[in-house]
Amino acid sequence: MASHGYFSVLVHAFVFASLATSAFSQLSPNYYDYACPNALSTIKSVVEAAVQKEYRMGASLLRLHFHDCFVNGCDGSILLDPSPTIDSEKNAFANFQSVRGFEVVDDIKQAVDEACGTPVVSCADILAVAARDSVVALGGPTWEVQLGRRDSTTASKEAADANIPAPFFSLSQLITNFKNHGLDEKDLVVLSGGHTIGYARCVTFKDHIYNDSNIDPNFAQYLKYICPRNGGDLNLAPLDSTAANFDLNYYSNLVQKNGLLHSDQELFNGGSTDELVKQYSYDTEAFYVEFANSMVKMGNIQPLTGDQGEIRVSCRKVNNY
Ligand code: HEM
Ligand SMILES: *[C@@H]1O[C@H](CO)[C@@H](O)[C@H](O)[C@H]1NC(C)=O
Repeated sequence: MASHGYFSVLVHAFVFASLATSAFSQLSPNYYDYACPNALSTIKSVVEAAVQKEYRMGASLLRLHFHDCFVNGCDGSILLDPSPTIDSEKNAFANFQSVRGFEVVDDIKQAVDEACGTPVVSCADILAVAARDSVVALGGPTWEVQLGRRDSTTASKEAADANIPAPFFSLSQLITNFKNHGLDEKDLVVLSGGHTIGYARCVTFKDHIYNDSNIDPNFAQYLKYICPRNGGDLNLAPLDSTAANFDLNYYSNLVQKNGLLHSDQELFNGGSTDELVKQYSYDTEAFYVEFANSMVKMGNIQPLTGDQGEIRVSCRKVNNY
């Protein structure tokens, strides 16, 4: 009887574990341990060198992973160049003349394929690992990256336009957009903390500094030099006061009404997300822990696994084309 009870506990534990795995995803942190034990260290060293050379590259790589995951899941679709069969997401509104870092992804892909001997690491996984390594390189938290995503053989500019949130979104539009991707209000606030690093073009914050009232007047004045009412659309401003450091300043800036984008300031504008913004503005530990959790959650959006998709030879084009 005792042994029957023990066995049944084991069976239940096993069934629960497999249900849990398939319900979340079939990804695993150990996915490349046998096929390519040096894959992760190779990606890390290329990312570190790129960030050393130009710190903004860390921000650009983090953003690529986000824009990949939000369009039909994390499947490397953002990396495909235009071709007769590819409606490149690089031409979508949020991406055109805006997303960057593709050359570094090429460098990573070349280095990792060389380290592995064959192309076994997907471009989608490269983006997920490079995003983590970028955050670490700029002083942020680390986390275990789930792996085993495969690469898409398609892309969609329409899907990119429909799915990537815009800087003119209201809080309720942001909440709905994230909800549609399986992410809640807390994920929205935490992941927006990605704006603790990197830059935005004048065209993305012009309306906010000239037309919105929930902005500190001195901050708006300073930005008007960078971003004149007419022209200057490509001029850059840092997304928070310390664009090279993964720190709390994005949130403390929001509390001071020093948010750069309209969508940033929406998170602290008298609505339901104010309290979280306030907490992250002083609680580094909470922000770091939750950022890591939410990045894993975002990285799990609808991956291709098993025999779906492919492992691309070049991240810029589908195989056999
Ligand atoms: C919540 C909705 C979001 C909106 C509306 C939004 C919008 C934007 C915009 C307009 C820019 C400037 C682009 C340019 O001027 O070319 C930007 C930059 C950036 N975004 Fe977001 N974003 C959002 C969420 C996120 C998330 C979730 C992450 C990552 C976790 C992220 C990471 C970044 C980074 C790192 C940059 C700077 C890129 C660079 O310097 O190259 N954003 N975002
Ligand atoms: C601000 O609002 C006015 C009136 O709606 C509009 O004409 C203008 O294009 C907006 N943006 C800027 C940067 O002034």
